[in-house]
Amino acid sequence: MTNNGVKKVISSVFHKVASIPDNGKLAAYIPELAKVNPEYFGVYISSVNGFEYGVGDWNQKFSIQSIAKALAVTLAYKALGEQIWQRVGVEPSGTPFNSLVQLESDNGIPRNPFINSGAIVVCDILICNLKNPKKEFLDFVRDIAQNPQLDYCSKIAESEKSVGYLNIGLCNYIKSLGNIKNSPEEVLDFYFNLCSLEMTCRELSHTFLFLANHGSKLFDGKEVLNHSQCKRINALMQTCGFYDESGEFAFKVGLPGKSGVGGGIIAVHPGKYSIAVWSPRLNARGNSYRGVRFLESFTTNTRESIF
Ligand code: DON
Repeated sequence: MTNNGVKKVISSVFHKVASIPDNGKLAAYIPELAKVNPEYFGVYISSVNGFEYGVGDWNQKFSIQSIAKALAVTLAYKALGEQIWQRVGVEPSGTPFNSLVQLESDNGIPRNPFINSGAIVVCDILICNLKNPKKEFLDFVRDIAQNPQLDYCSKIAESEKSVGYLNIGLCNYIKSLGNIKNSPEEVLDFYFNLCSLEMTCRELSHTFLFLANHGSKLFDGKEVLNHSQCKRINALMQTCGFYDESGEFAFKVGLPGKSGVGGGIIAVHPGKYSIAVWSPRLNARGNSYRGVRFLESFTTNTRESIF
């Protein structure tokens, strides 16, 4: 499809989705996220050919939450190589993002790096492999995004920490099963900061463009992941990026992607583009209600899905 055709589809689908009743609910379990204006709605696409386009609130910062887990596992994969898969699996869990149930029978090895338990283990791996994990992770994200202004939001991190009983429980339980090497306090502090990263839709689509570009940054051609590693991160996003809605997302949208409870979704078309959508109200599975609806109509109307 031509760039003008893509622009027309984005605008028309955006207005159509904006006009249907939003049945989602804000992520009220994190007090700071419950304060966000639920009417925000933005979209931004960046292609590997340099085409870019945004509509709605694409220039408004939001909390990317679990979307950061895809960046954390990328850095951990770079640091540890294939050994990482001994500590975290690559299978869809079919459970909600914060579930504890499989850990007991799986001996503390989370099913994948995108459920909370898996991302907590990835944080532990990063702490084991980096001198100053919070700083080095942020430097890594700033580098792939080519944006030195990106930052954590301490207000959101503290807000989540103040009510983070389930994540605290997950981390301590995994520690008791031997798959957390550092102190749970340090691991959780890093985890809550990771989830507090803020970006606009434009920044988010720029940050994930390397996954559409076979693992290399578009602006300087430098490799973040090699082809095979990039394939694997995209495959994980395809099969596990939306928790117990991953199958439905593949079925309806047909792109690898990752969601966050801030209402953001990043989706990637390998070899072509990355597209970020943000609308804060969530469906019952914790994924943006309008975001999923938008991407479904977008890939259907442009025929730009991987299937
Ligand atoms: O740990 C949590 O519950 C949040 N910081 C992140 C969860 C999340 O974004 C799940 N996404 N859809």
